Amino acid sequence: MTKARVFSGVQPTGHLHIGNYLGAIQNFVRLQHDYECIFCVVDLHAVTVYQEPAELRAKIREIAALFIACGIDPKVATLMVQSSVSGHAELGWLLTCVTPLGWLERMTQYKDKSAKQETIGSGLLNYPVLMAADILLYQAKIVPVGDDQSQHLELTRDIAQRFNSLYGDTFTVPATKLPTHGARVMGLDDPEKKMSKSATGTGHAIGLLDDLAQAKKKIMRATTDSNPAVDFDPGAKNPMGAGVRNLLGIYQAFSGASNDEMQAQFAGLRYGDLKKKVAEMVAQSLEPIQARYREVISGNLDEILRAGSDRILPVANETVRLTKERMGVYAP
Ligand code: TYM
Repeated sequence: MTKARVFSGVQPTGHLHIGNYLGAIQNFVRLQHDYECIFCVVDLHAVTVYQEPAELRAKIREIAALFIACGIDPKVATLMVQSSVSGHAELGWLLTCVTPLGWLERMTQYKDKSAKQETIGSGLLNYPVLMAADILLYQAKIVPVGDDQSQHLELTRDIAQRFNSLYGDTFTVPATKLPTHGARVMGLDDPEKKMSKSATGTGHAIGLLDDLAQAKKKIMRATTDSNPAVDFDPGAKNPMGAGVRNLLGIYQAFSGASNDEMQAQFAGLRYGDLKKKVAEMVAQSLEPIQARYREVISGNLDEILRAGSDRILPVANETVRLTKERMGVYAP
């Protein structure tokens, strides 16, 4: 029996943090043996906002190396860079033509990102259509992502269904796969905000390549609440705040501990001790990733990425051909 296909992508903007790892990459590693996986560095998405070209080139390699350092085996899963397969951009255009403007204007990430720009590139608005193209190009069934991508995945399904109803069954309608723990890791300094790539230098996020002593310090300084110790009782006079929930969530996602194990380990523990345990867990998990990264970044990455795109090119070409044929675009 052929394995169902999985696709996911990571943008080469900023440095990857533990939110990216727990929300997405850890799941990639788990899925690679049971599915036919394609993991992609989505550089065409990155340029929807200005990137310094030399930095972008370096970040593409950094992300690809981190995929491998985190445990993705390029002999098992396909690793590739989006711009190496022109079908992403081509299908992106064809799908743009069936996507109502209102669907795109409603996207919360578009609203957030465009609010921060002086001039809004039209690529930013079309970003989710390109994301739909990434997924539909490979007829992926499952898309492992963090919770912040859920709305984009819903849109992907809407676009696929709209195309299928206009032109006949063409695209597999994909399912979203969130991790059990770590689907939304929050900022350490402000647990009301999602941990984000643009702020790894501060006390906000822990980068996968952060100096481990610094990483521990960031956790020790993380925002908690005015309670002295961990109290799991939701009916407590002062229920646990978002900062403590976030620290516990990070620990649970790294360790894979069950809820009962979490209760047994942490109930009644003072916040200082909680932070020490979380800091140890994070450092212990990042250490082997960093060691492996140093080997991989100086290795034959470009060859691996080229082999990846060569391997899946026929699938992409076939989907573009079929889409053109269905739409009546010249496809002899
Ligand atoms: P990106 O590059 O922002 O993030 C990569 C992955 O990390 C997850 N993530 C998080 N998970 C938990 N907590 C957080 N604080 C956190 N921050 C990020 C994201 O959900 C994502 O899974 N649009 C996508 C890239 C993309 C893509 C695709 C994904 C392009 N095409 C096709 C899947 C399929 C993005 O910007 O992810």
